Amino acid sequence: MTAQPGLVDAQGRAFRNLRVSLTAACNYACTYCVPKGKQLHRARHELDVVQFLRAVDYLIEIAGIDKLRITGGEPLLSPQFDAFLPAVMQRPLADVSLTTNGQFLLEKLPLLKASGIRRINVSLDTLNPVAFRKICRSGDLPTVLAGIDAALGAGIRVKVNMVPMRSANEDQIVPLLDYCLARGIELRYIELMRMGHWQGNPDYARELVPMSRILALLGQRYAYVRTAGEFDATAARFEIPGKGFFGIIANESLPFCATCSRLRLSSAGFLHGCLSNTQRHYIADLLELPRAEAVPQLRERLQLALADKQPLAFGGSETVMRWIGG
Ligand code: 5AD
Repeated sequence: MTAQPGLVDAQGRAFRNLRVSLTAACNYACTYCVPKGKQLHRARHELDVVQFLRAVDYLIEIAGIDKLRITGGEPLLSPQFDAFLPAVMQRPLADVSLTTNGQFLLEKLPLLKASGIRRINVSLDTLNPVAFRKICRSGDLPTVLAGIDAALGAGIRVKVNMVPMRSANEDQIVPLLDYCLARGIELRYIELMRMGHWQGNPDYARELVPMSRILALLGQRYAYVRTAGEFDATAARFEIPGKGFFGIIANESLPFCATCSRLRLSSAGFLHGCLSNTQRHYIADLLELPRAEAVPQLRERLQLALADKQPLAFGGSETVMRWIGG
Protein backbone atom coordinates (compact mmCIF):
# COMPACT_ATOMS: atom_id res chain seq x y z
CA MET A 1 0.00 0.00 0.00
CA THR A 2 1.38 3.45 -0.81
CA ALA A 3 0.74 6.60 1.18
CA GLN A 4 -1.63 9.19 -0.20
CA PRO A 5 -0.03 12.27 -1.77
CA GLY A 6 1.02 14.75 0.86
CA LEU A 7 1.71 12.24 3.60
CA VAL A 8 5.48 12.43 3.18
CA ASP A 9 7.53 15.05 5.00
CA ALA A 10 10.49 17.18 3.90
CA GLN A 11 12.95 14.44 4.91
CA GLY A 12 11.04 11.92 2.81
CA ARG A 13 9.53 10.26 5.86
CA ALA A 14 6.10 8.64 5.81
CA PHE A 15 4.20 6.52 8.30
CA ARG A 16 4.57 2.77 7.66
CA ASN A 17 4.83 1.39 11.10
CA LEU A 18 1.93 1.65 13.55
CA ARG A 19 2.21 0.90 17.25
CA VAL A 20 -1.12 0.44 18.96
CA SER A 21 -1.17 0.77 22.74
CA LEU A 22 -4.14 -1.35 23.80
CA THR A 23 -4.08 -0.11 27.38
CA ALA A 24 -2.00 2.27 29.45
CA ALA A 25 -2.15 -0.15 32.39
CA CYS A 26 0.83 -2.28 33.33
CA ASN A 27 1.31 -4.88 36.05
CA TYR A 28 5.01 -4.00 36.26
CA ALA A 29 6.59 -0.68 37.24
CA CYS A 30 10.06 -0.97 35.70
CA THR A 31 12.69 1.47 36.90
CA TYR A 32 13.56 2.61 33.35
CA CYS A 33 9.90 3.35 32.66
CA VAL A 34 8.43 4.90 35.82
CA PRO A 35 9.77 6.62 38.93
CA LYS A 36 9.54 5.04 42.36
CA GLY A 37 6.00 4.78 43.72
CA LYS A 38 4.33 5.20 40.35
CA GLN A 39 1.95 2.56 39.03
CA LEU A 40 0.49 2.59 35.53
CA HIS A 41 -3.27 2.64 35.24
CA ARG A 42 -5.60 2.45 32.31
CA ALA A 43 -6.64 5.72 30.73
CA ARG A 44 -10.04 6.99 31.85
CA HIS A 45 -11.59 6.36 28.44
CA GLU A 46 -9.86 3.68 26.44
CA LEU A 47 -10.96 2.79 22.93
CA ASP A 48 -12.95 -0.39 22.54
CA VAL A 49 -12.01 -3.06 20.03
CA VAL A 50 -14.39 -1.77 17.36
CA GLN A 51 -12.81 1.69 17.59
CA PHE A 52 -9.26 0.32 17.57
CA LEU A 53 -9.99 -1.73 14.45
CA ARG A 54 -11.70 1.16 12.69
CA ALA A 55 -8.67 3.31 13.41
CA VAL A 56 -6.32 0.61 12.13
CA ASP A 57 -8.31 0.23 8.92
CA TYR A 58 -8.31 3.99 8.26
CA LEU A 59 -4.59 4.22 9.00
CA ILE A 60 -3.78 1.34 6.65
CA GLU A 61 -5.78 3.08 3.94
CA ILE A 62 -4.82 6.71 4.47
CA ALA A 63 -1.31 6.59 5.90
CA GLY A 64 -0.08 3.47 4.12
CA ILE A 65 0.63 1.53 7.30
CA ASP A 66 1.92 -1.96 6.57
CA LYS A 67 3.49 -3.00 9.88
CA LEU A 68 1.73 -3.08 13.22
CA ARG A 69 2.96 -3.71 16.73
CA ILE A 70 0.64 -4.23 19.69
CA THR A 71 1.99 -2.51 22.80
CA GLY A 72 0.82 -1.03 26.12
CA GLY A 73 1.15 -0.57 29.09
CA GLU A 74 1.08 -4.31 29.05
CA PRO A 75 -1.10 -5.37 26.11
CA LEU A 76 -1.92 -8.82 27.50
CA LEU A 77 -3.71 -7.06 30.39
CA SER A 78 -6.16 -5.38 28.04
CA PRO A 79 -9.67 -6.82 27.90
CA GLN A 80 -9.56 -5.90 24.18
CA PHE A 81 -6.56 -8.08 23.41
CA ASP A 82 -8.33 -11.39 22.76
CA ALA A 83 -10.61 -9.85 20.14
CA PHE A 84 -8.08 -7.39 18.71
CA LEU A 85 -5.26 -9.81 17.88
CA PRO A 86 -7.20 -12.26 15.68
CA ALA A 87 -8.97 -9.40 13.91
CA VAL A 88 -5.79 -7.48 13.20
CA MET A 89 -4.16 -10.65 11.83
CA GLN A 90 -6.81 -10.57 9.08
CA ARG A 91 -5.82 -7.08 7.93
CA PRO A 92 -3.59 -6.54 4.88
CA LEU A 93 -0.39 -6.02 6.86
CA ALA A 94 3.06 -7.32 5.99
CA ASP A 95 3.91 -7.81 9.65
CA VAL A 96 2.14 -7.94 13.02
CA SER A 97 4.04 -8.25 16.27
CA LEU A 98 3.58 -7.76 19.98
CA THR A 99 5.66 -6.34 22.82
CA THR A 100 4.97 -7.90 26.21
CA ASN A 101 6.57 -8.32 29.60
CA GLY A 102 5.79 -12.03 29.30
CA GLN A 103 4.01 -12.46 32.60
CA PHE A 104 0.80 -13.73 30.94
CA LEU A 105 2.41 -15.37 27.95
CA LEU A 106 1.64 -18.91 29.08
CA GLU A 107 -2.07 -18.17 29.51
CA LYS A 108 -2.31 -16.33 26.22
CA LEU A 109 -0.29 -18.77 24.15
CA PRO A 110 -3.25 -20.76 22.76
CA LEU A 111 -4.75 -17.49 21.53
CA LEU A 112 -1.44 -16.35 20.03
CA LYS A 113 -1.00 -19.66 18.23
CA ALA A 114 -4.55 -19.65 16.88
CA SER A 115 -4.15 -16.09 15.60
CA GLY A 116 -1.16 -17.03 13.43
CA ILE A 117 1.11 -14.30 14.86
CA ARG A 118 4.66 -15.20 13.87
CA ARG A 119 6.79 -13.14 16.22
CA ILE A 120 6.78 -11.38 19.58
CA ASN A 121 9.17 -9.25 21.65
CA VAL A 122 9.52 -9.99 25.34
CA SER A 123 11.06 -7.49 27.77
CA LEU A 124 13.63 -9.28 29.89
CA ASP A 125 16.33 -7.28 31.63
CA THR A 126 18.03 -9.87 33.81
CA LEU A 127 18.22 -13.60 34.56
CA ASN A 128 18.75 -12.93 38.25
CA PRO A 129 15.42 -13.27 40.12
CA VAL A 130 16.39 -10.78 42.82
CA ALA A 131 17.51 -8.15 40.32
CA PHE A 132 14.37 -8.90 38.29
CA ARG A 133 12.12 -7.88 41.18
CA LYS A 134 14.21 -4.76 41.74
CA ILE A 135 14.00 -3.66 38.11
CA CYS A 136 10.38 -4.64 37.41
CA ARG A 137 9.15 -4.01 40.97
CA SER A 138 6.74 -6.88 40.32
CA GLY A 139 6.36 -10.09 38.36
CA ASP A 140 8.07 -13.41 38.49
CA LEU A 141 11.13 -14.41 36.45
CA PRO A 142 10.46 -18.18 36.17
CA THR A 143 6.98 -17.48 34.77
CA VAL A 144 8.43 -15.19 32.11
CA LEU A 145 11.13 -17.72 31.19
CA ALA A 146 8.52 -20.49 30.94
CA GLY A 147 6.43 -18.24 28.70
CA ILE A 148 9.37 -17.60 26.39
CA ASP A 149 10.15 -21.31 26.09
CA ALA A 150 6.50 -22.12 25.44
CA ALA A 151 6.31 -19.47 22.69
CA LEU A 152 9.46 -20.86 21.06
CA GLY A 153 8.01 -24.37 21.35
CA ALA A 154 4.91 -23.15 19.54
CA GLY A 155 7.07 -21.95 16.64
CA ILE A 156 6.73 -18.23 17.44
CA ARG A 157 9.88 -16.19 16.82
CA VAL A 158 10.97 -14.35 19.96
CA LYS A 159 13.11 -11.29 20.37
CA VAL A 160 14.17 -10.17 23.83
CA ASN A 161 14.43 -6.48 24.74
CA MET A 162 16.93 -5.54 27.44
CA VAL A 163 17.53 -2.03 28.75
CA PRO A 164 21.01 -2.13 30.32
CA MET A 165 21.52 0.18 33.29
CA ARG A 166 24.82 0.65 35.08
CA SER A 167 23.53 0.04 38.60
CA ALA A 168 20.90 -2.58 37.85
CA ASN A 169 21.88 -5.11 35.22
CA GLU A 170 25.12 -4.25 33.44
CA ASP A 171 26.44 -7.60 34.69
CA GLN A 172 23.69 -9.29 32.64
CA ILE A 173 24.79 -7.99 29.23
CA VAL A 174 26.81 -11.12 28.49
CA PRO A 175 24.66 -13.73 30.34
CA LEU A 176 21.49 -12.58 28.57
CA LEU A 177 23.19 -12.95 25.21
CA ASP A 178 24.34 -16.46 26.18
CA TYR A 179 20.75 -17.28 27.11
CA CYS A 180 19.36 -15.87 23.86
CA LEU A 181 21.95 -17.43 21.55
CA ALA A 182 21.28 -20.84 23.10
CA ARG A 183 17.61 -20.50 22.11
CA GLY A 184 17.86 -18.85 18.70
CA ILE A 185 16.48 -15.61 20.16
CA GLU A 186 17.69 -12.28 18.82
CA LEU A 187 18.55 -10.04 21.78
CA ARG A 188 18.09 -6.32 21.40
CA TYR A 189 19.89 -4.04 23.80
CA ILE A 190 18.04 -0.74 24.08
CA GLU A 191 20.01 2.27 25.24
CA LEU A 192 18.22 3.92 28.13
CA MET A 193 16.09 6.70 26.67
CA ARG A 194 16.08 10.16 28.15
CA MET A 195 12.36 10.39 28.63
CA GLY A 196 9.77 10.71 31.33
CA HIS A 197 11.49 10.82 34.71
CA TRP A 198 14.94 10.63 33.05
CA GLN A 199 14.53 14.09 31.55
CA GLY A 200 16.89 16.41 33.39
CA ASN A 201 17.69 13.66 35.89
CA PRO A 202 21.37 13.67 36.95
CA ASP A 203 21.23 9.86 37.37
CA TYR A 204 20.66 9.45 33.64
CA ALA A 205 24.30 9.89 32.62
CA ARG A 206 25.39 7.52 35.38
CA GLU A 207 22.92 4.81 34.36
CA LEU A 208 23.26 4.95 30.57
CA VAL A 209 25.23 2.06 29.09
CA PRO A 210 26.07 3.33 25.62
CA MET A 211 26.49 1.12 22.57
CA SER A 212 30.28 1.44 22.72
CA ARG A 213 30.33 -0.04 26.22
CA ILE A 214 27.88 -2.83 25.35
CA LEU A 215 30.11 -3.81 22.42
CA ALA A 216 33.26 -3.62 24.55
CA LEU A 217 31.74 -5.98 27.13
CA LEU A 218 30.48 -8.40 24.47
CA GLY A 219 33.83 -8.27 22.68
CA GLN A 220 35.51 -9.89 25.67
CA ARG A 221 33.53 -13.05 24.99
CA TYR A 222 32.30 -13.01 21.40
CA ALA A 223 33.65 -12.10 17.98
CA TYR A 224 30.87 -10.17 16.26
CA VAL A 225 30.52 -8.48 12.89
CA ARG A 226 28.15 -5.70 11.89
CA THR A 227 25.47 -6.84 9.42
CA ALA A 228 22.89 -5.08 7.34
CA GLY A 229 19.78 -4.29 9.35
CA GLU A 230 16.36 -5.57 8.52
CA PHE A 231 14.11 -3.41 6.40
CA ASP A 232 13.17 -0.21 8.22
CA ALA A 233 15.32 -1.22 11.15
CA THR A 234 16.04 0.99 14.11
CA ALA A 235 18.64 -1.40 15.49
CA ALA A 236 22.29 -1.71 14.60
CA ARG A 237 22.49 -5.44 13.92
CA PHE A 238 25.42 -7.76 14.56
CA GLU A 239 26.21 -11.38 13.79
CA ILE A 240 28.27 -13.77 15.87
CA PRO A 241 29.20 -16.16 13.09
CA GLY A 242 27.88 -19.64 13.69
CA LYS A 243 26.01 -18.58 16.81
CA GLY A 244 23.37 -15.98 15.96
CA PHE A 245 22.47 -12.31 15.91
CA PHE A 246 21.95 -9.44 18.30
CA GLY A 247 20.99 -5.80 17.90
CA ILE A 248 21.48 -2.51 19.67
CA ILE A 249 18.82 0.17 19.53
CA ALA A 250 21.13 3.10 20.06
CA ASN A 251 18.72 5.95 20.61
CA GLU A 252 21.53 8.06 21.99
CA SER A 253 24.58 6.86 20.08
CA LEU A 254 22.98 6.43 16.65
CA PRO A 255 19.65 8.30 16.54
CA PHE A 256 17.39 7.00 13.81
CA CYS A 257 14.97 9.93 13.57
CA ALA A 258 16.00 10.61 9.96
CA THR A 259 14.38 7.38 8.82
CA CYS A 260 11.66 7.01 11.45
CA SER A 261 8.41 5.72 9.96
CA ARG A 262 6.60 5.14 13.23
CA LEU A 263 3.15 6.31 14.19
CA ARG A 264 1.64 5.58 17.58
CA LEU A 265 -1.99 5.26 18.60
CA SER A 266 -2.63 5.49 22.33
CA SER A 267 -5.41 3.62 24.10
CA ALA A 268 -7.03 6.98 24.84
CA GLY A 269 -7.40 7.65 21.11
CA PHE A 270 -4.49 9.99 20.34
CA LEU A 271 -2.01 9.79 17.48
CA HIS A 272 1.63 10.52 18.33
CA GLY A 273 3.96 11.23 15.41
CA CYS A 274 7.08 11.31 17.56
CA LEU A 275 8.08 9.83 20.91
CA SER A 276 10.18 12.91 21.52
CA ASN A 277 7.35 15.39 21.17
CA THR A 278 4.46 16.05 23.54
CA GLN A 279 2.14 16.91 20.65
CA ARG A 280 -0.67 14.44 20.15
CA HIS A 281 -3.77 14.41 17.98
CA TYR A 282 -7.11 13.12 19.19
CA ILE A 283 -8.89 10.93 16.66
CA ALA A 284 -11.49 9.00 18.68
CA ASP A 285 -14.13 11.57 17.66
CA LEU A 286 -13.49 10.85 13.97
CA LEU A 287 -14.10 7.15 14.43
CA GLU A 288 -17.81 7.82 14.97
CA LEU A 289 -18.30 9.96 11.85
CA PRO A 290 -19.53 8.75 8.48
CA ARG A 291 -16.57 7.60 6.43
CA ALA A 292 -16.76 10.46 3.91
CA GLU A 293 -16.31 12.96 6.74
CA ALA A 294 -13.80 10.96 8.73
CA VAL A 295 -11.27 10.33 5.96
CA PRO A 296 -10.36 13.95 5.03
CA GLN A 297 -10.18 14.97 8.71
CA LEU A 298 -7.99 12.04 9.60
CA ARG A 299 -5.69 12.90 6.70
CA GLU A 300 -5.30 16.41 8.13
CA ARG A 301 -4.47 15.09 11.58
CA LEU A 302 -1.94 12.66 10.12
CA GLN A 303 -0.26 15.54 8.36
CA LEU A 304 0.04 17.32 11.72
CA ALA A 305 1.38 14.18 13.38
CA LEU A 306 4.00 13.77 10.65
CA ALA A 307 5.14 17.36 11.18
CA ASP A 308 5.80 16.49 14.84
CA LYS A 309 8.78 14.30 13.96
CA GLN A 310 12.20 15.64 14.99
CA PRO A 311 14.47 16.72 12.15
CA LEU A 312 17.46 14.60 13.17
CA ALA A 313 18.11 13.36 16.65
CA PHE A 314 15.94 12.10 19.43
CA GLY A 315 15.66 15.00 21.87
CA GLY A 316 13.74 13.47 24.73
CA SER A 317 10.55 14.89 26.09
CA GLU A 318 7.97 14.70 28.80
CA THR A 319 6.01 12.32 26.61
CA VAL A 320 6.17 9.28 28.74
CA MET A 321 6.97 5.91 27.24
CA ARG A 322 4.34 4.24 29.38
CA TRP A 323 1.43 5.85 27.51
CA ILE A 324 2.52 4.53 24.21
CA GLY A 325 4.59 1.49 24.88
CA GLY A 326 7.91 2.35 23.36
N1 5AD B 1 14.54 3.57 27.74
C1 5AD B 1 14.60 2.54 26.87
N2 5AD B 1 13.60 1.65 26.71
C2 5AD B 1 12.51 1.82 27.47
N3 5AD B 1 11.37 1.11 27.50
C3 5AD B 1 10.55 1.67 28.40
N4 5AD B 1 11.14 2.76 28.95
C4 5AD B 1 12.37 2.87 28.38
C5 5AD B 1 13.45 3.78 28.50
N5 5AD B 1 13.42 4.82 29.35
C6 5AD B 1 11.14 -0.06 26.62
C7 5AD B 1 11.76 -1.32 27.14
C8 5AD B 1 10.64 -2.29 27.20
C9 5AD B 1 9.64 -1.69 26.27
C10 5AD B 1 8.24 -2.08 26.56
O1 5AD B 1 9.78 -0.30 26.47
O2 5AD B 1 12.65 -1.79 26.18
O3 5AD B 1 11.08 -3.56 26.75
